[in-house]
Amino acid sequence: MGSRSAAASAPGKVILFGEHAVVYGEPSLSLALHRRIRVWGDVPADATTVNREALDEHRFSYIATALRLHWRDGHVRLRTETELPQGGHVGSSAALSTATIGVLFALQRGTPAPAADVARAAFETEYATQGAASPNDTTVATAGGAVLLSPQREAGAEHLWRIEKGERAWNAHRITLPDLPLVVAHSGVRARTADQVAKVKRFVDKNAFGRDLIQEIGAITREGVEALKHRDLVRLGELMNRNHTCLHTLGVDAPALTRLVEAARRVPGTFGAKLTGAGGGGSLIALAERPQAVIEALQRMGAQAFPAEPSPRGLEVSVS
Ligand code: MEV
Repeated sequence: MGSRSAAASAPGKVILFGEHAVVYGEPSLSLALHRRIRVWGDVPADATTVNREALDEHRFSYIATALRLHWRDGHVRLRTETELPQGGHVGSSAALSTATIGVLFALQRGTPAPAADVARAAFETEYATQGAASPNDTTVATAGGAVLLSPQREAGAEHLWRIEKGERAWNAHRITLPDLPLVVAHSGVRARTADQVAKVKRFVDKNAFGRDLIQEIGAITREGVEALKHRDLVRLGELMNRNHTCLHTLGVDAPALTRLVEAARRVPGTFGAKLTGAGGGGSLIALAERPQAVIEALQRMGAQAFPAEPSPRGLEVSVS
């Protein structure tokens, strides 16, 4: 391979409905955020480096896996830059995996790879790094906008791609979201997605009640999709609260998150609030008539809170 440079960026995400249940084939509904991760790559290189240091496989485990699974082309010099809190469960590992794969494929091919190829490879990277995953986060990081993942193809929604793993299959669809006044807040407590996914798996494997909760979350997500079509904010808020209760019962809530979810709900005009992403810490999402009041209430409690404006921009790649 001659001298080549590539750059890619991918967005973070929030999950409105369906985290954890999507790992078991239930639907999920997520949207991309404006905050992004950027990755640059250059070849040839004398050594494989990330941010000018030898690749630290522990710190950059997703990059290490991406290279192990998808790179046979010698050393590569990588640089990363992020606007997303790590361990905040707003999609930083998926955005990093997706942007890294976008760069590696572009370096190999001399042109940006098709989005579906990147989405599949980024999912394999997350799956191998975490030991389990759904393609939710990497699909949103690739596609941008609002994404519905579903075991079957959904009528009336644009079908993006299908991803299979073992006995499961997920169909990714792009959907149009109405304008939603959403707030995201990071509790400041970092938690590893892999640990939360493993915790839920232990519960679900041993316990029929765990499997009922997973199905209940699936039903809530389907109702959420209907409520979105009518921009029924009251119903959406109720469903978010119910989704949160299911996640709490599954054991992926955390005291710091509970306090923030309750505080968001206490602000007059809040329709609902739930944890978003893997839990155990990380972030919440609230739907509120007065988003700024929720942001201020949560900031007073020490959280990093900001409006969750959905971004239509997915993976963007350039090669030179
Ligand atoms: C994490 O953002 C979402 C989970 O459902 C895991 C996954 O889908 O891979 C908890």
